[in-house]
Amino acid sequence: MKKNLLVIGIGFLLIGASIFSACTKEGAMGPAGASGTNGTNGTNGTNGKDGVDGGTTCTECHNPATVTMAATQYEMSKHSYGEASFGEAGNASCGPCHESEAFKYVCANNVPSTFSLNATTNKWVNNYSSVASAAIGEITCNTCHSSLHTTYGKEDLSPLTTVAPVSSTMWAGAQTFDAPAEGGISNLCIKCHQPRPFTASNGDGNVLNYTALASNATAVFYDAAQANTLNLLKPGYRTHTHYGTVGAIYVGKGGVEFPGTVAYANSVHTTIASCQDCHMAPLNGKSGGHTFFAAGNFNGCNKAGCHTDMSSTSTTLAAVTAAAKKGLDDLAAKLKINGVDILNRNPDATTNLWATKTTNKYDGYLNIYDPINNPAGIANNPGGTFQNPSSSSFTQAQKDINAALPKITLTNAQMGAIINFQLCLREYSLGVHNNKYSTALVQNSIAILP
Ligand code: HEC
Ligand code: HEC
Ligand code: HEC
Ligand code: HEC
Ligand code: HEC
Repeated sequence: MKKNLLVIGIGFLLIGASIFSACTKEGAMGPAGASGTNGTNGTNGTNGKDGVDGGTTCTECHNPATVTMAATQYEMSKHSYGEASFGEAGNASCGPCHESEAFKYVCANNVPSTFSLNATTNKWVNNYSSVASAAIGEITCNTCHSSLHTTYGKEDLSPLTTVAPVSSTMWAGAQTFDAPAEGGISNLCIKCHQPRPFTASNGDGNVLNYTALASNATAVFYDAAQANTLNLLKPGYRTHTHYGTVGAIYVGKGGVEFPGTVAYANSVHTTIASCQDCHMAPLNGKSGGHTFFAAGNFNGCNKAGCHTDMSSTSTTLAAVTAAAKKGLDDLAAKLKINGVDILNRNPDATTNLWATKTTNKYDGYLNIYDPINNPAGIANNPGGTFQNPSSSSFTQAQKDINAALPKITLTNAQMGAIINFQLCLREYSLGVHNNKYSTALVQNSIAILP
């Protein structure tokens, strides 16, 4: 309360300052005229200085039910309490999704998600990046609401920073993710909640050709014994799609689409629902509104025109999530090295956000030796640690452990299936987002693996 009063007070000072600067700009356009009188509250002045209207437009937003309510809910949002914006501050390539200013930068400058060849190094470079000077800022109100405090009326809430179809960074722009419902408001979320690219880090640095993985499943993708020219990337513990896979699954794009008996189709959610319908529904417990959580809140599902009987005891919902969990379990069971899982298990629900999504509690990482992150890894690490991308940085003892471990070989089918597993595990909802598409990715991957 005390904070709000103070805040409004400061606001009036800020407005005074902005009106003054607007006047200065206009004055520069012509010869200075005689000074007029300042506006009184509620009436415009003759010198262009509009009177402050006593705060009536401020209170369209600054009232308990509007800004105060959204801000209270927002404290429960991981956008607010999550710590990644601190961890990744200063990093221009992580910034577009983790830093407020960097997100606004890539939107305002329409930064492309293509790769370009650097003629000096002869390596391809990912263009989807902000700049060091903008790689800062917690995600907050103005990250998404682009026009706050421009007219000082309630309409300032409406323009969102972006609703444009999203050029996929995972696919270096070769695919566009677009969720058209409600004027494309989901695209705001998808711009950040999208997977990141796999690159030929051991080759020319370019994005992987996922289509070739799908069409040539039996070819060898990685073999420690083969020449480096074949091995585009060295698999490591952290070889992954990153966290934001929902956007891709939701629009039904982005996966390694192995040919198979299950069609790559979409659930109706893709075209008729928005992220906001389920994630910003009227609040129930800790979910809904500006908490952005969907878990346990069925208000969105039962919105007029959608479901009528969705609940935690719905048998339809239980059947979908159970089948999706079984699909992930079955796919993981087919991804083995010498009879042991390629996929990493992590039963710790604090560090593994997806611990409940499979029976064996996979986290989407690979079970490759990493002295820091995975000291019990079962396969030889051909590269290095995530922090130090060269195994020459290992101590002698670590090198000895690593050398004794079996070397990994991957076919295109295995690499593609790992990518699909990560996409479908990390969409979190076990099929709620887009059951048809995630089922096709998982089942066709199972079928293509020997
Ligand atoms: C379109 C809705 C809207 C209107 C209208 C509006 N504000 Fe705000 N204002 C916001 C939002 C959103 C915030 C950020 C709240 C937060 O971070 O908790 C904010 C924050 C503030 C702050 C805190 C400093 C800051 O920028 O974060 C002040 C001061 C303020 N407003 C003053 C005013 C005054 C004075 C008016 C009227 C002349 C006004 N506002 C009109 C939405 C609005
Ligand atoms: C500027 C990028 C950005 C935008 C825009 C964005 N998000 Fe996020 N979102 C993130 C990041 C980054 C995190 C994780 C933050 C952390 O852990 O520090 C996150 C976390 C979340 C979480 C919590 C996930 C968890 O691990 O429990 C949900 C739910 C979520 N966002 C939903 C949405 C929805 C819905 C929208 C659109 C209305 C949206 N987000 C828009 C970047 C964004
Ligand atoms: C294309 C967008 C995007 C980029 C680029 C990106 N991230 Fe993320 N990242 C996300 C999203 C979205 C989440 C949260 C998703 C969720 O929890 O559902 C996330 C989550 C994380 C988390 C986990 C936070 C938690 O809550 O546990 C870490 C750590 C992280 N990112 C680090 C990085 C680093 C380091 C980089 C740069 C090398 C990076 N990210 C680049 C989108 C991105
Ligand atoms: C991740 C993006 C995002 C962030 C961050 C965000 N909002 Fe919003 N906000 C939205 C979207 C999207 C809508 C429109 C929801 C809809 O139409 O269903 C919205 C709507 C609103 C509304 C109108 C609600 C209504 O019932 O009409 C208010 C008020 C609001 N936001 C205030 C805030 C404040 C205050 C903050 C910061 C504390 C904030 N927002 C942060 C995305 C965001
Ligand atoms: C039809 C409803 C629905 C729609 C539409 C929807 N989600 Fe979800 N989402 C869910 C459900 C259900 C979960 C799983 C919640 C849980 O953990 O039980 C979920 C989970 C998530 C999570 C993990 C955090 C959490 O709450 O567990 C993120 C992040 C997320 N969704 C983002 C999005 C984004 C971004 C969009 C739009 C592209 C979207 N969702 C559209 C229902 C939906």
